[in-house]
Amino acid sequence: QQEPKAVIVIFGATGDLAMRKLFPSIYNLYYNGQIDENVAVVGAARKPWDNETFREHVKKSLMNKVDSEEEIPDSFLSRFFYESVDVTEPSSYQNLQHLITTLEETYETDGNRMFYLAMAPEFFGTIAQNLQAYGLKDGQGWTRLVIEKPFGHDLPSAQKLNNQVREAFDEEQIYRIDHYLGKEMVQNIEVIRFANGIFGHLWNNQYISNIQITSSESLGVEERFHFYNQSGAVRDMVQNHMLQMLALLAMEPPIKLETDEVRSEKIKVFRAMRPIKPEKVDQYFIRGQYGAGEIDGNPVKSYQEEHEALESSNTETFVAGKILIDNYRWAGVPFYIRTGKRMAEKAAKIVVEFKNMPMNLYYDEKDYQQPNLLVINVQPEEGVTLHLNAKSNQPGIQAEPIKLSYSYNCKERISAPEAYEKLLLDCMLGDATNFTHWDEVALSWKFIDSIIEGWKMQKPDFPNYKAGSKGPEAANQLLEKDGFHWWPIK
Ligand code: BG6
Repeated sequence: QQEPKAVIVIFGATGDLAMRKLFPSIYNLYYNGQIDENVAVVGAARKPWDNETFREHVKKSLMNKVDSEEEIPDSFLSRFFYESVDVTEPSSYQNLQHLITTLEETYETDGNRMFYLAMAPEFFGTIAQNLQAYGLKDGQGWTRLVIEKPFGHDLPSAQKLNNQVREAFDEEQIYRIDHYLGKEMVQNIEVIRFANGIFGHLWNNQYISNIQITSSESLGVEERFHFYNQSGAVRDMVQNHMLQMLALLAMEPPIKLETDEVRSEKIKVFRAMRPIKPEKVDQYFIRGQYGAGEIDGNPVKSYQEEHEALESSNTETFVAGKILIDNYRWAGVPFYIRTGKRMAEKAAKIVVEFKNMPMNLYYDEKDYQQPNLLVINVQPEEGVTLHLNAKSNQPGIQAEPIKLSYSYNCKERISAPEAYEKLLLDCMLGDATNFTHWDEVALSWKFIDSIIEGWKMQKPDFPNYKAGSKGPEAANQLLEKDGFHWWPIK
């Protein structure tokens, strides 16, 4: 099989995402021989740069990422080209078209074109439509459009954006990125579930008491404060990453591992999520915003003090919620999710808690019998841990909790490719399985919108958790009232 080839056009090429993720991913794919040598990258952005300035920028991005001993060869950098664009100007598209066509001849890329929108979301629709209007979409080979999040800021805006994009591109050409779907352990959820009888058979409301999904960050909002302040944690993390993980945990086995089959099972989960009435939001979702605190021994400012624009902000930097899935498999099993900025550590983890044995033979009354847990460590460690009970050799103690752990980080193998690397390659290969379908986006916005509507009705009492902590106390109460508690993320 031939490795895929294309001209990759990155809108927003001078931005943070391109620098941190996209250039290093292209570099790795290129050097691992996963994409054809015949590849050219066009950086498109406002800045009046030339090719040389752009190549220096790409080089800097790679030096930060890849082994610094390694020289970044000019033969690689020479494939990067820059075009200064105003995305509302016809002449920009004409110039781009001219450059792409020239590169297609030089690099013999079979006319394949990937347009990657990694810039301010308000321009996604305009760019998609202009790519169509000025003929850039109609190359000799395939054309694919990759769209970063946020895909809208509520259902109506997402719908509007989708209509704009769909006027220009077919659904099969649109790749909506959710980078969590490129994470090794998120992809592993399906394999763990569907390749193991001991989990597959027990994966339902008869045997599972609750599922907890956590993604915590120690970083704050940094220079993204302007965007973040309008978004908040529920739009930034829950509408996409958290609900995507939930869908993979809850979906029925697909009949085949094909894009449409997997997507349609995920869509059914979104359809089965019990809607939360705005007036009842407090029973299901709680929000938080960090105050001043300490992380790793360093003092940290409160969210509102990070920038004057954030003063008296009501934006949430933490969310915890309980989601119920009203279907045959999951009726009665709460899925708890939790995510926040400026928490004690950066970690993402899924805990599946199994129901206890009907009778406790081995533990004292006061010693709560440890339930079996399947823990999927998404990051920074990648692995799985199974919590069991086994005989103790301590006098007077009959049983004790033990853990069976498997860590991918220790396994001798080339370090797993980063999420973006895998997703870029998937897109070039035309595999959209790990990208979100419009129906998933629409249904998840619908779910989120009523939470936000409920929150708008009352002014939150912020800040309500300390930077460097585990989040607000209300997040604990959310589980306690159901008789559960959060399992530690360490
Ligand atoms: C992004 C959010 O989608 O995901 C960021 O916009 C967040 O706010 C990031 O920091 C988290 O991703 P990861 O891969 O670092 O867990």
